[in-house]
Amino acid sequence: MNGFIFIFVNFIHRLENEKCNKKLEDLRQENRNLKSENSKLRSQLQDIQNELPSPEVRSPPQDSQNELPSPKESMSKAVDHKLESSDESRESEPPTVLKKRVTKKHWVKLPFQLSSTENDGQQPQETNADDPKSCWMQSEDVTKKPLKQCTSPAKAFSPRTQPKVSLVSIGIDFGTAFTGYSFGFKGAKQIRQPKWGEEYGMNTPKTPTCILFDENKNFLKFGYDAIMYYTRQTRRNEAKKLFLFDDFKMELYGKVLHRDSMMTAKNGKKMRAMKVFSESLKFMKDHALDMMGKHTAGVTYSASDATWVLTVPAIWSSAAKQFMTEAATEAGLVTESEPERLIVALEPEAASVWCKQLPKEGFMEGDLTEAETIEQVPGTQYMVVDCGGGTIDITVHEVVEGGHLKELHRVSGNNMGGQTVDKNFKAFIREIFSEKVFDEFEKHHPSELQRLMYDFSICKRYDGEVLVQCPYSLQQIASKVDDIEAYFSRDNDVDWESGQILLSGAKLKDLHEDSVRGIESLMKEILKKPTLNIRYIFLVGGFALSPYVNRFVKEKFGSKCQVLCPVDAQMAIVNGAVMFGMMPNVVESRISVFTYGIAVVHFFDKIKHKGKSKYVSKDGVHYCDVCFHCLVKKDESIPFDEAEQYIFNALEIDQRELPFSFYCTEKETAEFVDEEGMRKIGSLVVSMPKISQGRNRSVILEIKFGFTEMQATATDVDSGETTSVKMDFMSK
Ligand SMILES: Nc1ncnc2c1ncn2[C@@H]1O[C@H](COP(=O)(O)OP(=O)(O)OP(=O)(O)O)[C@@H](O)[C@H]1O
Ligand SMILES: [Mg+2]
Repeated sequence: MNGFIFIFVNFIHRLENEKCNKKLEDLRQENRNLKSENSKLRSQLQDIQNELPSPEVRSPPQDSQNELPSPKESMSKAVDHKLESSDESRESEPPTVLKKRVTKKHWVKLPFQLSSTENDGQQPQETNADDPKSCWMQSEDVTKKPLKQCTSPAKAFSPRTQPKVSLVSIGIDFGTAFTGYSFGFKGAKQIRQPKWGEEYGMNTPKTPTCILFDENKNFLKFGYDAIMYYTRQTRRNEAKKLFLFDDFKMELYGKVLHRDSMMTAKNGKKMRAMKVFSESLKFMKDHALDMMGKHTAGVTYSASDATWVLTVPAIWSSAAKQFMTEAATEAGLVTESEPERLIVALEPEAASVWCKQLPKEGFMEGDLTEAETIEQVPGTQYMVVDCGGGTIDITVHEVVEGGHLKELHRVSGNNMGGQTVDKNFKAFIREIFSEKVFDEFEKHHPSELQRLMYDFSICKRYDGEVLVQCPYSLQQIASKVDDIEAYFSRDNDVDWESGQILLSGAKLKDLHEDSVRGIESLMKEILKKPTLNIRYIFLVGGFALSPYVNRFVKEKFGSKCQVLCPVDAQMAIVNGAVMFGMMPNVVESRISVFTYGIAVVHFFDKIKHKGKSKYVSKDGVHYCDVCFHCLVKKDESIPFDEAEQYIFNALEIDQRELPFSFYCTEKETAEFVDEEGMRKIGSLVVSMPKISQGRNRSVILEIKFGFTEMQATATDVDSGETTSVKMDFMSK
């Protein structure tokens, strides 16, 4: 036995050795890549230096009153340079300045100069880089930990690998009420999706967003299967053990999210939200791969053959989007090494990609004028209104050359989707039957309540009066208190019709009122913008099919714009997502929802920086180290997939590290990183080990304001040392 263990352990060691060797080889390769990248960066830097006039060398005044870039609470740090640097401000620039903002594709000349990094005449004290006190610290780090302790950024990652070409694009529309997927093979025009619920007499393009786990929190069922199984268990009184979650997508809306956030199941017990979401996505992934096999004579597909496009509401926070991205990774849609296989698209954005290429016949009524499709007419501006179960999401696009899209207005929305009508109905029924009766029904007959709500949601398809089956148990509980017809005698908008609840057309319309007003206010806000010239309004999503919603939008806005609804309105999102996966650059630019920036230091101004954190450099210069330097302003247009580059150089001659802290705010302008509304979303520290060039050393900071994730990479030009960080919007 011991011999066996020995052999086994040896075997494990050998395996580990092999793994280590492989890793070593990978690292060597990575090193070679970095070296070549480094030489490219050097030549880019040289290009910039050649482009710029000779810098003027100046020492910063020792006690400057002027506004200047500077670091905080540490030795030295990335120092901001005013973008609109005037001659005056240049006079007071410290030696370390943000030199230039450039984009990856073309170097943009900005109105500030590359300052000299030669010895500027100051004589900073000698510091021992190994002494923690002489390390840099993050400006907002109130505990003032030496930087040595925070050299590994929150989420360091290796540079992206070149993606394999995907065989198939798979879109997943994880809806509040219904979830579905579609897929399209590369080169084929056809987009396919399964039909759901056939075994229960249904035939829908999406299945209810409902997931069931057993008492040990192991996944059991999703969609119609989950509902049916749960209902059967309820009859057997077994349901209390099970964990059922339905309509849970909105749990990610408007909440402080972290990876261990919990969600409450129908049985009142809690489970990790990440698990609920990732198991749901895993179910969709497995179903999709299985279905694709069936469409291709049994060819087996794996998740890595696909580009996955996950749609999320436009109004979701960055944290919620990140939560979904991490859930998708946990579900095995993508691996951490190939994150580019996952695209997170906004629901109205995906729908826009679908609508722009639809021919006239693709719309239910109304007509496209002139061209065959919208995408053939550059300059056409249109609004997409996704009316889902949970949210109303809006985007405004303009067609540009090549049928690509440019976002014209920051995406907007609210939580006034179709389920608002359901909630109003539930509240109304509670009022009719009294709280006492309804609460008893809700507590003891959850599956019957679910059935009642489902029956009502079908009624939303109709105009005028509708009949909803009243659950038998509700009738029973109610009749113990009063004669059943008496409940209905108090309201003229509702009647009792032998076991059914008759709602008047006026009442049904009334139940839609909150949603319709919610849609109106969002649309009005956009349409009043004088710079926009919106020609079409596309209504998509299941709730767009509601006669009340449809008629309201046409009556209210039909005189200004042409209102069109695609034939497959509920599938516009997921089908558009498939197309998105085939051409991820289809949306050329987006409007930033936040202002993004970094922490920088400015020369300490006794008035302006009164009460603010001060940092005194080794050479005695006073800085305010909580200043905010804006990189992207809210409402600014950000080109797709273009990285912005910023160049910094050393403040101290013996500086061995350069820290960066990234922030975002909903404000359009901000001055300090410690002001209200400012959120830290990441930090990194790049080593600058070669100090022989003194201050004449540069770090290139590259930031990609991508949509699926936002990442920053800092590279020390002299040594090629590089550090990257993905911005983390979650609180833990
Ligand atoms: N024909 C119809 N008429 C009226 N309402 C409908 C119709 N079909 C579906 N709905 C409603 O539309 C909503 C579902 O639409 P959809 O599938 O687009 O939403 P979702 O994707 O689940 O939600 P979200 O996009 O908000 O996450 C539900 O409230 C449903 O009752
Ligand atoms: Mg939706």
